[in-house]
Amino acid sequence: MAGTLENKVALVTGGGSGIGRATSLAFGREGANVVVADVNADAGEETVSAIKESGGESTFVHVDVASATGVQAMINQVIQIYGRLDCAHNNAGIEGDFTARLHEYTEETWDRLMDINLKGVWLCLKYEIEHMLEQGGGSIVNTASVAGLVGSRMVSAYAASKHGVVGLTKAAALEYARDGIRVNAVCPGVIDTPMVQRLISGREGYEETIATRQPVGRLGLPQEIAEAVVWLSSDAASFVTGHAMAVDGGFTAQ
Ligand SMILES: NC(=O)c1ccc[n+]([C@@H]2O[C@H](COP(=O)([O-])OP(=O)(O)OC[C@H]3O[C@@H](n4cnc5c(N)ncnc54)[C@H](O)[C@@H]3O)[C@@H](O)[C@H]2O)c1
Repeated sequence: MAGTLENKVALVTGGGSGIGRATSLAFGREGANVVVADVNADAGEETVSAIKESGGESTFVHVDVASATGVQAMINQVIQIYGRLDCAHNNAGIEGDFTARLHEYTEETWDRLMDINLKGVWLCLKYEIEHMLEQGGGSIVNTASVAGLVGSRMVSAYAASKHGVVGLTKAAALEYARDGIRVNAVCPGVIDTPMVQRLISGREGYEETIATRQPVGRLGLPQEIAEAVVWLSSDAASFVTGHAMAVDGGFTAQ
């Protein structure tokens, strides 16, 4: 049976770990040629190997999404290798400092977080859309967060960056709606990835505390986000644009 992304070219930033790795594998399973982009080359190459082992086609491209020249070079490489870009998952992101209240946050940590989480998504959109306009369409999914939909304590900078991603997604969707380019966001709840494991590590019982705060009583799996990204990227979602989809075990329904 043909996959939903057969013969498409798909790009995933932050594809070396967690949610990005799961999306890369799901894109590969659905028949896409997958470009795995990451600042961590070893991790990215591991994802590429996993896709190839399951019979898919994939290439690693090194990128720091905070760099305009880096992002432009990444898109050029995608076009050089596969000739086009149909789907992009702008997913690379960092947590910043979840231990600092707003007044304790340093300017350096704030700037780095914004450069990757918000400016990085804008740069990816900029160069992806430039190419998609020439080729006559495409589909983009940005990774925001439930922290892009509601506020919570100890995440002020992260929440600001993710609310920014949701705003950017909606504005971009409207600007390019008549150009065949759909732009959506996925807003994960707490997902069991290396990012969340860094948060949990060394804090006895904390994983259980987080799990009990979720209406479904557990952390999400990276694959559960990947499935939403695949759907939003596919033609099955052809009338969906400008949507910030919560995939959060009911967290924002409270
Ligand atoms: N895990 C969660 O609970 C959760 C919830 C909501 C949103 N998110 C978001 O999902 C995305 C992925 O998170 P994750 O949990 O999989 O994290 P992760 O740390 O497991 O993976 C992030 C990946 O991004 C890469 N990366 C980091 N900075 C980069 C840069 N400057 N350029 C290119 N690549 C870079 C890392 O090398 C890594 O491979 C992030 O945007 C994160 O904010 C995660």
